[in-house]
Amino acid sequence: MKNKILVTGGAGYIGSHTCIALHQAGYEIVVYDNLSNSSREAVNRVASLIGQPIDFVEGDIRDTDLLRQVFSDNQFFGVIHFAGLKAVGESVAKPLMYYNNNVSGTISLLEVMAEYDVKNLVFSSSATVYGDPEVLPIDESSPRSCTNPYGQSKLTVEHILEDLAVSDESWNLIPLRYFNPVGAHPSGQIGEDPNDIPNNLMPYISQVAVGKLSKLSIFGNDYPTIDGTGVRDFIHVTDLAQGHVAALDYLLSYLEQQTSIEEHSSNKKSSIGFLPINLGTGTGTSVLELVTAFSKVSEQDIPYQFVSRRAGDIASCYASADKARDLLNWQAKLSISDMCQDTWRWQKMNPNGYNLA
Ligand code: NAD
Ligand code: WQD
Repeated sequence: MKNKILVTGGAGYIGSHTCIALHQAGYEIVVYDNLSNSSREAVNRVASLIGQPIDFVEGDIRDTDLLRQVFSDNQFFGVIHFAGLKAVGESVAKPLMYYNNNVSGTISLLEVMAEYDVKNLVFSSSATVYGDPEVLPIDESSPRSCTNPYGQSKLTVEHILEDLAVSDESWNLIPLRYFNPVGAHPSGQIGEDPNDIPNNLMPYISQVAVGKLSKLSIFGNDYPTIDGTGVRDFIHVTDLAQGHVAALDYLLSYLEQQTSIEEHSSNKKSSIGFLPINLGTGTGTSVLELVTAFSKVSEQDIPYQFVSRRAGDIASCYASADKARDLLNWQAKLSISDMCQDTWRWQKMNPNGYNLA
């Protein structure tokens, strides 16, 4: 075993896939999740996929006593921090809930990490921090701004991490800015399990394809894009999961290098500080292109209608993935067709998600 990692929000969509990737890469994991947007069944399925039980703690990141207990029971190398609420519309209706969970929750986690001198963090940030980008593809130095409380909570955490890195040089803080995660584990055992009617495009399409929903509404066909529909950088969740392993591997080798520099010279060991990295494919795909690809892979008709633009949406968003390639030696490998294929398999095998009733 390489190193022990605390995975907050590890029962969720991206967290569960990342747990598998971490295990396969030789990391030991402890999952900490309050199951507010996930189920114990996801953790059970990850355990069965990796062939061993998961060390799981049901708890809230704002519960500092419980966090302290977990930190005193384990020697962590670092934390991957997925725990957070993520529905943009809900955040507009319940901003305090979002700031409390996402911002206060992260502060609570960081305080306990500091107490136990665990100062390595990979944080789930989002391309939403770039707002409506002026230049495409978007690189990490692009200006940041947000228009909704969810995005603002991610941006605020990024600012907190930047301040923390300035205040104490021993922190290593890597916010990974995800573009549009889609897809599912190729086994069909774990995937995205939205509550109620999905807000996001891919789960909506797959529920239309399987017959749970009758028709997709496409929000706008008058954007300045290839076919008038919105363009996004869809990334397969298993590629995204590998991006987290790459970030930890990078951090480990960086710290090893620093230790050897310190041993062989009088130079002081330096840390990474605040290091934001995009996780995207670098390629934009339009809403209509995704619908066509899904229809082809699933061999299902996907009825759709054009409706007006959704408030707050932008025309196009795709990443420059160069920094992740150059620094982490990571690149997304899977295609739009793979993303559709794996989503479709998960949808067909689990028409009610993790709800087994
Ligand atoms: P998810 O809701 O499936 O997973 C989040 C997990 O965190 C859930 O299991 C939930 O129960 C848990 N959680 C929430 N609040 C908690 C708290 N206070 N204490 C303990 N556990 C808590 O979401 P996801 O899609 O896997 O996203 C993971 C992270 O990535 C989130 O922070 C999200 O904001 C961020 N992100 C997601 C996307 C996306 O499109 N899915 C894009 C960019 C960033
Ligand atoms: C994609 C495209 C829609 C649904 C959101 C969050 C972002 C990040 C990822 C967490 C857009 C169109 C959608 C539908 C449609 N999450 N669409 N009909 O908005 O790019 O990003 O999820 O950090 O913060 O904002 O993703 O999947 O909702 O939309 O036409 O029923 O699909 O207009 O062009 P988005 P999405």
